[in-house]
Amino acid sequence: MNDHSSEALAAARAAAPARNAGAAPNDSTQFATQDTLLTPRFYTTDFKALDAVDVSPVRKEWDALMAEFEMDTNTDHFQRPAEMAGTNYANLPPELYKEFSQFLISSLTSEFSGCVLYAEIRKKVKNPDLRTLFGYMARDESRHAGFINQWLKDFGIGVDLGFLTKSKKYTFFKPKYVYYATYLSEKIGYARYIAIYRQIEKHPELRFHPIFLWFERWCNDEFRHGEAFALMMRAQPGLLKGLNLYWIRFFQLAVYATMFVRDHTRPEMHKALGLDPTAYGLHVFAITSRIAEQVFPVTLDHTHPVFVAGLARLCEIQQAVEDAKARGGIVGGIQRLGLAAQAAATLVKLYFLPVVRKDLPEDVRLAPSW
Ligand SMILES: [Fe+2]
Ligand SMILES: [Fe+2]
Repeated sequence: MNDHSSEALAAARAAAPARNAGAAPNDSTQFATQDTLLTPRFYTTDFKALDAVDVSPVRKEWDALMAEFEMDTNTDHFQRPAEMAGTNYANLPPELYKEFSQFLISSLTSEFSGCVLYAEIRKKVKNPDLRTLFGYMARDESRHAGFINQWLKDFGIGVDLGFLTKSKKYTFFKPKYVYYATYLSEKIGYARYIAIYRQIEKHPELRFHPIFLWFERWCNDEFRHGEAFALMMRAQPGLLKGLNLYWIRFFQLAVYATMFVRDHTRPEMHKALGLDPTAYGLHVFAITSRIAEQVFPVTLDHTHPVFVAGLARLCEIQQAVEDAKARGGIVGGIQRLGLAAQAAATLVKLYFLPVVRKDLPEDVRLAPSW
């Protein structure tokens, strides 16, 4: 039995900047602590219910996947060459710097959110299959979080992960929502990173920061995490039919819309990478939905013109919310209520669009071939 999880948390936290007890957390730590509709959250779940999960219906695939985790092909991937550690990469145009540092902080928060949840599951369950899996995944996420934090420290804005663990609010999700949401965020994480990596592979001149060089092998970890959740769901087929299909549609829409709107708040970063945020978003959805067919019998039709127009509308509403916030006062408050109602109406319309239905493949496993 391996036990990476507590080591993982300790290692990731150790990568955080030193802070005097009682001193106020820096701006990036405060930014990471915020909970808004668009920021990554921390989760907790029903550990007892998870403990009862039986993976024997997918035993063969499960053991093969655990053997891949055990090989740990990325064990020395997340190290910076000495010359990079000493180089100042903060010299970016101000708007790009702002968007890129927020991108890094947001990515770090979601990596660390995975690390905390997986380490907690590893600690709280007795089921040996789950303990093994969640130990491996906490190991990977702690590396990812610690690695981003090293680059943030170059900018002098490292996040205090110890503070974040204590002060961030934890949202309770029952296990089935953890499966749907985490599966999707692992797979969309893969799709996002590989799409950026392929772009800078084609256009090395657009690589304005070295961290993108790590994305290819990095996103293979995320892909593998998604495979684990796919197997857990396929081992419990009731999760993938009947009324649960409505939850599956709901989580896809929530994950897709959040990503699309969040990415549209970073125009300078996408411009620097030579990416159009709308085209990039739709490409990421195409990859994610193609992968998700391994486990979801329904996927959203991301090519539907109403779907694309609805997402664009959500971006406009988000911009208007920012403007109303800046205005403040009663007028700003009333405007924000109106905008929240418009966003809800748009999401309801998107939710009820026709979906793509396909039978699940016999062989659930996929390779990260994008
Ligand atoms: Fe990760
Ligand atoms: Fe992951």
